[in-house]
Order: sequence, then structure tokens, then C-alpha cells
Amino acid sequence: MRYLTFALAKGRLAKKTLTYLEKMGIEMEEMKDPDTRKLIFVNEDLRIKMFLSKASDVPTYVEYGAADIGVVGKDTILEEGRKLYEVMDLGFGKCTMCVCGPESARELLQHQQLIRVASKYPNIAKDYFNNIKHQTVEVIKLHGSVELAPIVGLAEVIVDIVETGTTLKENGLMVLEEICPLSARVVVNQVSMKMENERITGILNALKKVM
Ligand code: PRP
Repeated sequence: MRYLTFALAKGRLAKKTLTYLEKMGIEMEEMKDPDTRKLIFVNEDLRIKMFLSKASDVPTYVEYGAADIGVVGKDTILEEGRKLYEVMDLGFGKCTMCVCGPESARELLQHQQLIRVASKYPNIAKDYFNNIKHQTVEVIKLHGSVELAPIVGLAEVIVDIVETGTTLKENGLMVLEEICPLSARVVVNQVSMKMENERITGILNALKKVM
């Protein structure tokens, strides 16, 4: 039996996923060691390999078949636009992709004005403004703390994830428009889905049962 490889997006999603996998009987003991510098973990009995990677790299590993199965947020799936099957909504990591800014930016969104939009998600931002709102905008890619952009005058609004709304509130910003709901998803390599269908379907069904 060949190994099935899982790629998990580092952080909260991976932690939660590992607890569900454990409930299903998929234990990756060494992965729990907070001091380990190992990158890939193997469960020989179950013929399973598992690794953690930066969220934005998970769809890449899965598209190329370096991982058969991935767990990653819907935000990353939309942004990366990779060829893969999205097979399951895990229902945790819930948040919303939104256009946010100061109250004063609200009217800029209503009059087709050329504005600057800062985001860690330039593809989602472009798609929303160009194809849904039909508003021409300049999208500026940032890598974090995006809420700074409207405060320091880099952009009029941002496109970002809102979970509790605390970051917005503490920085005098608000949700101006909602783009889409997000949560953790399971993705599968398209060839693996055919070649290893029975094993993958079994894992997905077991996962559904413990959720
Ligand atoms: C995310 C997101 C928001 C914040 C939203 O950032 O980009 O900034 O969380 O959460 P809240 O609504 O609960 O306040 P993250 O913590 O990943 O940091 P980053 O901005 O540096 O990427």
C-alpha cells in the first residue's frame, strides 16, 4: 500500500484537524512535540505521511500531487486558484471575507470611483471589484496587518478576513461590504481522488463521523 500524504495549513487549522484525525484513530505522535524541527511525520502502520506548511502553499502541494489531501482555509483556496477538488467543509475556522475601511470610505464604494484596495488576497480583491462590483480599482498586495493601510493612507479600503471584528474595532475601521463566508476545507489531488478513491473516501467518511 502506498503512503497517503496530508498537507495541513500551519496554525489553528492544523491543531484542530489533528484532534479530529486522532479521534478517527490517525495518530501522529511526533507532531505534537512543540520543540521538533522535523518537517514530515510518518505513521508506518497506517501508511500515512503528514506535513505542515504555510497555508498558501497547501493548494500547490495538492495540485502537484506532492500531497494527496490538504486542509486549508477557503480564503487560500480562492486566492490560489489551483486545480484540485474541494471535497468537504470542516465547519471550523469560520470567518468572512470583507471589504473594510473607515465609515468615510463607504460612499467611495457606491460611485464607481477609482480607489486603492490593500489586501493579502489580491486575486480575491480583483475578482470582487472587477467582476462583481464592476468597479475599477488599484489593488496593492500586502503581507499582514492590512488594517494599517487605510489608517496611514496607503489605500482607501482593504479586503481582509474578519473573524471577531476586534482588529477592525480597535483601529476605528468597519465592515463595509461582505464578500463571502469562509471556513476550513478538505482538498484532494485530482489524480489521487481517482487512484486512491476507496481510501480517501473512507477517510472523508470517518472524518464526517467524528465532526
Ligand atoms: C487576520 C486578519 C485580520 C484579523 C481578523 O490577521 O487578516 O487582521 O485576523 O481577526 P479578528 O476579526 O478576530 O480581529 P492575522 O491574525 O492572521 O495576522 P496578519 O494580519 O498579520 O496576517
